[in-house]
Amino acid sequence: TAAVCSDLILFGTAGDLARRKLIPALYQLEKAGLLHKGTRIIGVARESKTAQEYTDWVYAQLEKFVTKEQIDADVWQRFANKLHYCAMDLGDCDSYQQLRQVIDSDADDAERATISYFATPPALFAAICEGLASVALNHESARVVLEKPLGHDLASSQAINQKVAEYFSESQIYRIDHYLGKETVLNLLALRFANSLFTDQWSHDRIDNIQITAAEQVGVEGRWGYYDDAGQLRDMVQNHLLQVLALIAMEPPTRLDAQSIRDEKLKVLRSLRPIDADNVADDSVRGQYTDGFSGDTKVPGYLKEEGAAAQSTTETFVALKAHIDNWRWSGVPFYLRTGKRMPQKRTEVVITFKPQPHNIFHETIGQLPPNRLIIRLQPDEGVEIEMMNKVPGLGQRMQLQPATLNLSFFKAFENKRIADAYERLLLEAIQGNQYLFVHRDEVECAWRWIDGIREAWENSGEAPRGYQAGTWGPAASVTMLAQDGREWDDEI
Ligand code: BG6
Repeated sequence: TAAVCSDLILFGTAGDLARRKLIPALYQLEKAGLLHKGTRIIGVARESKTAQEYTDWVYAQLEKFVTKEQIDADVWQRFANKLHYCAMDLGDCDSYQQLRQVIDSDADDAERATISYFATPPALFAAICEGLASVALNHESARVVLEKPLGHDLASSQAINQKVAEYFSESQIYRIDHYLGKETVLNLLALRFANSLFTDQWSHDRIDNIQITAAEQVGVEGRWGYYDDAGQLRDMVQNHLLQVLALIAMEPPTRLDAQSIRDEKLKVLRSLRPIDADNVADDSVRGQYTDGFSGDTKVPGYLKEEGAAAQSTTETFVALKAHIDNWRWSGVPFYLRTGKRMPQKRTEVVITFKPQPHNIFHETIGQLPPNRLIIRLQPDEGVEIEMMNKVPGLGQRMQLQPATLNLSFFKAFENKRIADAYERLLLEAIQGNQYLFVHRDEVECAWRWIDGIREAWENSGEAPRGYQAGTWGPAASVTMLAQDGREWDDEI
């Protein structure tokens, strides 16, 4: 794709996200030759710094966070030439004049898009929009990229969206859900819509249940304050898990463009059956980790983490039984599960198919185990199909045994580097493609569903159930499936 000339304004350049993800991602885009040579990257933070100091600081971040490879001197030189810095107080409208000056200085005649990346707390979004508008940086070829959390609930997300919409139209707004930038999440589109093998299988006719697990081994990683306000339901389910669910469950979009894909995802989100007072006890489990282990290391429980308040009832684990009330998915439960301090980091989708209508092997094997399609989103990205096979041998009776067809992306695409999600998302934002960004309607629809669950939890008056750090969550999560005669994939 031809590189596009743009100014990329990085609000919050000194923050964690910019240091760990955005700056390394931009460097990788430079390395891959995907940044137009006229691109300018303008870091914005409060601290005053000369351009040279900022450049040195960026280099230091790369040394920290671009670990696997040496920083290439030529690439770095090209990248450094693109860096600019502007010290500003984001809450002070007057200081946007300085930003305007940086933009106007050494500007060439090239037509440019202005992309403002809001890697700041959302409390600042309104002020930034106002400031940008005050110096005419909300022109037609301006875009804004918004980082999570986009609200705390439906009302606060509507307030943010409303404010940003006063200055930018929906087609200029790029809401990040970094899961949509992951290669394997994108591969769900390829898997579903480029392989006729699965097309006819993808419904309640053939599928028994679908599980989506996003397990993390880490705890709250020193960000107790933020996390305790959010909890796992807001932090992981409202966004990442529901986006994966929508991609798995949506109807085939008519085209591979933003509107077609977002329309289909939205229909799925709208069809989610509410989890409320009637079904919350059966269809949801929330947990909080207690003292335990991360690998072999002893780790403290959530309430003993650094900065913790002893009384918190914030959940660090959620399991849900979701239903999509539409034609395709009628009667197929979607089991969602995510938690901190699980035994391992693993994000996967497991699709269990219905049994054969008639079993001719019942004499040797009894009941046939179901076929399963396992999509490993991370780590060890790949796709597996568990299927029954004949055990080789001359015995009189057919012996069968399950075996796995295993496609590892690393092996299949040996020379291909798997790009970080932010590389792809920054590239798409620079190129003006919205299909991997979340529409306002999706965000708000997801919040509506999540708010219902929260409300039901609060009204139930029950505290989250404890689970030992390093386990797969409270026993109730296993029971939730056992009641349906099912079990989570691969309990350890
Ligand atoms: C973030 C959450 O959005 O996603 C974190 O705020 C979580 O709490 C992270 O750890 C998980 O992302 P990934 O890409 O490591 O699965």
